[in-house]
Amino acid sequence: MIFTSKDLRIFINALCLLIAIFFVNEIYGAEGGPCKEYGECDKFQYSLNDMESLQRGAATYINYCYGCHSLKYSRWGRVAKDLQIPEDIFFENLVFDKSIKTGDLMTGAMSEDSVNWFGVEPPDLSLVSRYKGDDWIYSYLRAYYEDSSKQYGVNNLVYPGTAMPNVLLSLQGNQRLICKNIPIIALNGGEKRDESGNSLLKEKCGFLEVEEGTGMLSKEEFDTLIYDLTNFLVYVGEPSKATRERIGWYVIFYFLIFTALASLLYREYHKDYNK
Ligand code: HEC
Repeated sequence: MIFTSKDLRIFINALCLLIAIFFVNEIYGAEGGPCKEYGECDKFQYSLNDMESLQRGAATYINYCYGCHSLKYSRWGRVAKDLQIPEDIFFENLVFDKSIKTGDLMTGAMSEDSVNWFGVEPPDLSLVSRYKGDDWIYSYLRAYYEDSSKQYGVNNLVYPGTAMPNVLLSLQGNQRLICKNIPIIALNGGEKRDESGNSLLKEKCGFLEVEEGTGMLSKEEFDTLIYDLTNFLVYVGEPSKATRERIGWYVIFYFLIFTALASLLYREYHKDYNK
């Protein structure tokens, strides 16, 4: 069959669209998401097969976040099942309202007044990992710092002026913005030095540092806590993501086998033409 010029035009248009989508994706991806004054967001790599991480994340979420943020597209029983927590243990330890049933949606524990308390209603976080991105959440929850000019005495580098108080302050400790003397880098990439060989320094501000001894967790422990919490929010955003990704590999495997078989069959049939 011969292609008409209309076919060709459609084909070229489709190709241009694909290329455009690819580049937009690249540019957005390369930026690491919009983390404002924090600079580039910290990279986050979810691990949805790590049940212990997801279980810890769920426990932290229910204890520290669920009071304000609902997860209205999730059901209690489904979360327990997906995270492989026996239902009796789950309900005994993580469900504080005893009237809640397995099939109930996680509609939150917040009263209607919350808009008046915070100026904005704490949003439902079911899909936050989808529209903000996991990099963003992971950076946001670790970027609170002391700022006495604000209502709750804290501000956030990733979300400046956020209406959410720093609910994990007692765990992380008092984080402040500090200035540091850092070596001046010359154009050739090396450190600049004076005549006697000492590095030349300049003051740079905007670094986050936790005041020692003010938090219950060390920096590593706190980072792990936020990792688990973010991992849990990625799970909540798409509960069947892990299954989907696993099945994806089977499908690709099937295609490989099928292609091999089809090409063998093709060769077999083709023998007849060459006689
Ligand atoms: C005291 C109530 C309260 C608690 C507890 C709380 N938050 Fe929030 N959170 C808010 C409010 C209010 C906002 C809206 C902030 C804004 O838009 O300025 C918010 C916003 C957010 C956002 C940004 C959502 C968006 O769409 O921009 C994330 C993510 C978030 N919270 C995560 C958490 C996590 C995780 C926890 C538990 C560690 C938590 N929050 C605990 C009140 C709370």
